[in-house]
Amino acid sequence: MLKLKVSSLKPGVKLGKDIYTSDSQLLLPKGTVITDEALNAFARRNIKEVFIMEASARMKSQKKFDDVYVDSLDAVKAFMFEARLGKPLEVEEISETVDMLMEQVFDEGDLFKQMRMMKDKDDYLFTHSVNVSLLCILIGRWLKCDDKEIKSLGIAGLLHDIGKIFIPDKILNKPDKLTEREFEEIKKHTLMGYNLVGQNETISTEVANAVLMHHERLDGSGYPIGSKGAQMGFCASVVAVADVYDAITSRRIYSSKQSPYAAAEVLWNESFGKLDARIAKVFYDKITNFYIGNEVLLSNNQKGVVVYINPTQPTRPIVMVDDVFYDLSTDRNITILEIID
Ligand SMILES: [Fe+2]
Ligand SMILES: [Fe+2]
Repeated sequence: MLKLKVSSLKPGVKLGKDIYTSDSQLLLPKGTVITDEALNAFARRNIKEVFIMEASARMKSQKKFDDVYVDSLDAVKAFMFEARLGKPLEVEEISETVDMLMEQVFDEGDLFKQMRMMKDKDDYLFTHSVNVSLLCILIGRWLKCDDKEIKSLGIAGLLHDIGKIFIPDKILNKPDKLTEREFEEIKKHTLMGYNLVGQNETISTEVANAVLMHHERLDGSGYPIGSKGAQMGFCASVVAVADVYDAITSRRIYSSKQSPYAAAEVLWNESFGKLDARIAKVFYDKITNFYIGNEVLLSNNQKGVVVYINPTQPTRPIVMVDDVFYDLSTDRNITILEIID
């Protein structure tokens, strides 16, 4: 079930909860198909948001994913460039962008496929910000967070790397390995982002902390503080998982993109002591199960179909190639290179 703005509804979606008038009379029961008359009734009674059944909203979502994605990229670019010029953040616009993104993210569905198709649309910093926001919203839905929490997660995802706009391009987009000094420069994006976002009273402490702490790790191996048992908070912990996943599955200037299974494997490994295990687990469980039945390219150059996810090693499924089954949990040399759409 999704809570959506009435202004974004199209006739044909189904109500997910009963709607009552201000004097407690039942106006429309759960399951009612929304018509133009119902939309007019909402407007007359100043009803701004309603709960909608997810499957019907999915079919009737007013805006197409591609358009929302491109609009969000524009918004990210605008607020990042303005930040570089020393202008204050337009929080209202950021909030509206996240509202739009939230309406595109459903519990199940083809978000991953849609995101893959948009991956190389723009510079990594911008697409990565939108992707991490989408993934944070998705994790929030998976963890059954309420809409307010999900909104914070979406904002944190969109803003998490805003400090990178202050890092010189030649370091940020350097194709070769960074020197130690350059890496120290990159690390500053967390503090620079925090200084910018923390100044803004309309941005919650939780979001500001996520900007500061998303590279911290529980074992103390992260930055900028690097303390063991870092008190990252929920929002920062979700951003950390989404950030790792998107970085690995995206093409960057210094590395090629890897498959969702490779990313799931990193999350799996890092769930032992580095990342919040509950958040990492929901992510690698969902992502690995999502591709059952999908065609994949293996590192031995053969194409096969994912047929079974081993619950004890979800990142290493059984793949069928013609009539031969490869169990990647025992055939450790074979990996999944790519998902074939
Ligand atoms: Fe970052
Ligand atoms: Fe990031």
